[in-house]
Amino acid sequence: DQIVEFYGEHQAGITTPAQDRMCFAGLNVTTDSVDELRLLLKDWTAAAARMTRGQETTEGGFDGGSYHAPPEDTGEAFGLTPGHLTITIGFGRSLFVDAEGKDRFGLKDKLPEALVEMPHFPADVLDEQRCNGDLCIQACADDPQVAVHAVRNLIRLGFGTVSTKWMQLGFGRTSSTSQAQETPRNLFGFKDGTANIMAEETDRLDEHVWVRDGSWMDGGSYLCARRIRMILETWDREPLGGQEAIFGRTKRDGAPLSGGGEFDAPDFDMPGSNNQPVIATDAHVRLAHPSQNGGAAMLRRGYNYADGTDAQGNIDAGLFFIAFVSDPRTGFIPIQNRLAREDALSEYLKHTGSAIFAIPPGTAEGGYIGQSLF
Ligand code: HEM
Repeated sequence: DQIVEFYGEHQAGITTPAQDRMCFAGLNVTTDSVDELRLLLKDWTAAAARMTRGQETTEGGFDGGSYHAPPEDTGEAFGLTPGHLTITIGFGRSLFVDAEGKDRFGLKDKLPEALVEMPHFPADVLDEQRCNGDLCIQACADDPQVAVHAVRNLIRLGFGTVSTKWMQLGFGRTSSTSQAQETPRNLFGFKDGTANIMAEETDRLDEHVWVRDGSWMDGGSYLCARRIRMILETWDREPLGGQEAIFGRTKRDGAPLSGGGEFDAPDFDMPGSNNQPVIATDAHVRLAHPSQNGGAAMLRRGYNYADGTDAQGNIDAGLFFIAFVSDPRTGFIPIQNRLAREDALSEYLKHTGSAIFAIPPGTAEGGYIGQSLF
């Protein structure tokens, strides 16, 4: 039936099987009324639940309302399947306290300590227009038209309450979130998501992904997003041996260079030539591995993107990196700090967008996303 249940303990779109297409938006709230904000979240919840079932945004649909009023649903998903649509809603730090320190909605006391501002990392070349936002919507589906329709119609429901700051389309998931899924490839041609935390690993999810602190965030998570441009023109001139050394895995099978198959554990101590280990000290999988980061692990759920060319005719393509962690201060920031400084891969990357959002828990039917906050 291609339907992913919207209601539940956790929001869908985190551990539910990663679909192949994504539309992500960062939005700002334009009202100062907390009642309007709450109403928006109620409207979004109702519309999201309908759309994930393959229905139009509201009961009126695109032609069931007044002939003299704009259609309630924009219509472009009519006749398409639900496409495993998931809609995940999040809150930025600026919703609790804005850049001037103002408490716009009386929510400052509820600001979770873990909802920090993303720090500036070495070599960041961020475009402010692609960063942060008071709210986020992540829509994932099998069909890009279904994902874009969902985000567009939620934005439309928020006319007068929200403005769109940025939007990113993604094609081609770069992670598996279930052992049943085959590992996909990123735009460098390597299997991506092999060592990801999977939906089946419930103990690891409780430890590394879900917030378990009894607060209004209990059962939620934190979404760390990075728009990472990959310098394809330089990468494509790198010999195969160099490419494999940079990741520490083989290109064909995604197996660790220390041997075995894709899912065998890498041996970081195995000696190689020139007094260097087989998996180099600056290899991406070594530096990102939990054993090198005090046990920190994340659930990655990113997408490839290609957004045309720059003024020089180079392709603006890469990875819209998304990771879900129970606390960005321990689960994401220290690892990114390390990668930015030491990772051999960094030479081929440019980080152009950045955000952290608190993803509240899911809701049962009758409730709404974010209800525990108010
Ligand atoms: C592993 C690619 C950025 C964290 C991997 C793997 C590939 C890869 C091919 C090995 C297969 C796997 O286990 O998934 C990339 C590319 C990136 C990128 C192309 C940028 C364009 C990042 C960033 C982070 C990150 C920004 C986090 C700060 C990880 C982690 C692993 C991993 C935690 C698993 C390590 C392990 O446990 O073995 N990445 N990655 N990656 N990457 Fe990345």
